[in-house]
Amino acid sequence: MKKVMASFAAALLVALPLGSMASPEDDLAEFRDYYAKRFPNTPFEDYINGVYSIDPPSREQWEEIEEFPPYELNISQGEELFNKPFANGKTYADCFDNGGMGIRQNYPYFDTERNEVVTLELAINECRQANGEKPLKWKRGPIADISAYMAYTSRGNIIDIKIPNAEAQKWYDRGKKHFYQKRGQLNMACADCHKFYSGNLIRADKLSPALGHLSHFPVYRSKWGGLGTTHRRYGGCNSQVRAKPFKAQSAEYRALEYFHTYMSNGLEVNGPGARK
Ligand code: HEC
Repeated sequence: MKKVMASFAAALLVALPLGSMASPEDDLAEFRDYYAKRFPNTPFEDYINGVYSIDPPSREQWEEIEEFPPYELNISQGEELFNKPFANGKTYADCFDNGGMGIRQNYPYFDTERNEVVTLELAINECRQANGEKPLKWKRGPIADISAYMAYTSRGNIIDIKIPNAEAQKWYDRGKKHFYQKRGQLNMACADCHKFYSGNLIRADKLSPALGHLSHFPVYRSKWGGLGTTHRRYGGCNSQVRAKPFKAQSAEYRALEYFHTYMSNGLEVNGPGARK
């Protein structure tokens, strides 16, 4: 009888909708495996290059752009802002591990004392406020420049998001739910465009795989004519399906970023990036 029950339980597990009971480790394995099967010619390390990892013709153009990167000025502006002392004489370096250098791969992280996910941009603004400065706007401008500089100092480091406890797992699950849930008038999920239809065309755009999506933020987009943060991009993708975007740095987008970055664990940071 015991044996029967055990196999019944096993069958039940298999029958559950994909991933609903899976651990983050299982999710990650499934995620990587999905893209490996879908794009057999793309090596794992190459997913950090977004749509260019699966589209050789556009990759050539992009490589030419990367020779004189449009975000170069942003990195130097970011460096200047990063090193400029606050009115109290302290700098951003005082707020971060290792003086803020080479730490991009650890963000977002789950703060076990605060019981919430902290993104890099949130930490930048909290650093300002802790030092008596006004917070910056979230989606573009100086915060994106500073974030770009910090990402630049982290290039080559391996994304390593951790899920330390059950509270963290709740945030992860919320982000995962957002990723797979259909929304908006077009009734489409992130996963529809960036997983199940990745590689297909939508209007003039080829849909990028979500694996590696967050290795290179903030991103310089030609369409924006400048740099934007992850949550700026999230807002744009929510609007595309005519869903109301959430606020930048809302718990919802921080949870999404947590899940979404975890799915890129093991890949290199190569931010900031340039995209169409
Ligand atoms: C209707 C299709 C569609 C949906 C749904 C959608 N996106 Fe996108 N997304 C796009 C297109 C088109 C682009 C630009 C081409 C590309 O890189 O895929 C894009 C780009 C992105 C990028 C930038 C990729 C890079 O390499 O810089 C990220 C990140 C992203 N989407 C995340 C999301 C998330 C998270 C969701 C769910 C909230 C989502 N998208 C939902 C169509 C979609």
